[in-house]
Amino acid sequence: MADLHEQQQHILVATFPGQGHINPALHLANRLAHFPTTHVTFSTTISGHRRMFPSSSSSELQHNLVTYSPFSDGHDDGITRSNTSFSDYFSIYNRLGPLNFSNILHSFAARGRPVTCIIYTILLPWVADVASDHGIPCFLYWIQASTVFSVYQHFLHGYETLISTHAHDPLFTLPFPNLKPSIQIRDLPSFCIMSPDHPFYPIFETLKEVFEKLESQIKESGGSNYKPKVLVNSFAELEPDVDVDEVELVPVGPVLPFLFEDQLQEEDDGSNLFKADDKGYMQWLDSKEEGSVVYISFGSFWEFKKEDMDEILKGLKESKRPYLWVVRKDNREKELLEIEGEEGDDQDGNGMMVEWCSQVRVLAHKAVGCFVTHCGWNSTLESLSCGVPMVSVPQWTDQGMNAKSEVDGNGVVKGEELVRCLELVMGDGEKGVEIRTKAKMWKDEALEAVSEGGSSDVNLKAFVDGIKKLIK
Ligand code: UDX
Repeated sequence: MADLHEQQQHILVATFPGQGHINPALHLANRLAHFPTTHVTFSTTISGHRRMFPSSSSSELQHNLVTYSPFSDGHDDGITRSNTSFSDYFSIYNRLGPLNFSNILHSFAARGRPVTCIIYTILLPWVADVASDHGIPCFLYWIQASTVFSVYQHFLHGYETLISTHAHDPLFTLPFPNLKPSIQIRDLPSFCIMSPDHPFYPIFETLKEVFEKLESQIKESGGSNYKPKVLVNSFAELEPDVDVDEVELVPVGPVLPFLFEDQLQEEDDGSNLFKADDKGYMQWLDSKEEGSVVYISFGSFWEFKKEDMDEILKGLKESKRPYLWVVRKDNREKELLEIEGEEGDDQDGNGMMVEWCSQVRVLAHKAVGCFVTHCGWNSTLESLSCGVPMVSVPQWTDQGMNAKSEVDGNGVVKGEELVRCLELVMGDGEKGVEIRTKAKMWKDEALEAVSEGGSSDVNLKAFVDGIKKLIK
């Protein structure tokens, strides 16, 4: 065993403890662990780790092929939005995170298993400094679309003023080179037009630091031809027209376990921060006709207002299609529960409301004919990869950009608009047939990209081969 370990690279994948971050990071960690030349450690905060493995008492553990080694961000018991502001959270996280993360690297080195490469997701800018202090090569893993990376780069490279001048003109087209189709103000990630006083703005400040660290990496390298590689959870065929400055984007996605034959058996990778509802929703789906069910979920973060929930419910009832709706406990209004009944089942048996589900299993079920989504990047990739057409109701951050090519509910939830979109996507009209055919095409393209010899497969293998050469 010791000999095998000595030959292996030890890759550490580090991530912020949001569900939309943990999923792509952990899926990549598992993917990398299937290479015979790598050993992989996954690291998130202690509070995130405890939610992933509530029954585990040990802080470091082994699960499937991956070692889990968490670090303290100073909030080990977790936070809620009502008791801690993002500003307070990030000031402690950005101070204690690097110290405690560095200790993990020391600990592995002391145990004869030094980390030889670090991959980090988008809200850990300090990882680049810690890696540099330890002399370990590190790479950013961009867990959103390549297009979004490019837009942020433009924003930070001189377009900020133009954007703020036109912030109130949603149809103003931005003259971004290297991006097709063109981007209008209304498509921009919400951070680009967010006031610095906004309670979410500290998230953007941390994100901006990630870009600053990349710039420093380029400067420090001294070589004018050096371009840091940035792994992206996307695939070349999905975003063919994105060209960026100074870094090399390496699409390796969609990194979704169910697309990989050798990972099919390992569905439980511990990634869930929320407990899936046990209401028999899969059996309920079994009882529905193919392509008949509307699945509704808005990810792990956004909190909808009661008025929006009422509008969605109105639209669902009016459309008369069976629906499975995820309403997280932290986003569940008492009034809504009363409408639906404590058990979550609709009175006429046409709908089911759950607190959390295995989203990919639901999307892969043949009964599901449409996904009403906020267009978080993970949900978007999952839906594409399952061939399920989407009705998008984007809310903030990158979601408006991700929604661009879908049937767009335009972010504003209105019951009658939802009915119209569902009819368009699921109805018998020509447009519906076209949308469903396109969705099936994306499913095939996604699978092809990650299959042996596909664009993302080739990129990931080349990356793993390449990092061997960097190890001192
Ligand atoms: C956040 C941002 O909001 C999003 O815009 C960004 O692209 C990623 O980070 P989140 O809002 O949680 O993510 O959305 P999303 O990216 O879609 O991730 C949610 C994840 O939770 C998905 O992987 C989805 O499969 C999973 N999920 C959601 C479940 O497993 N069960 C559920 O019931 C709901």
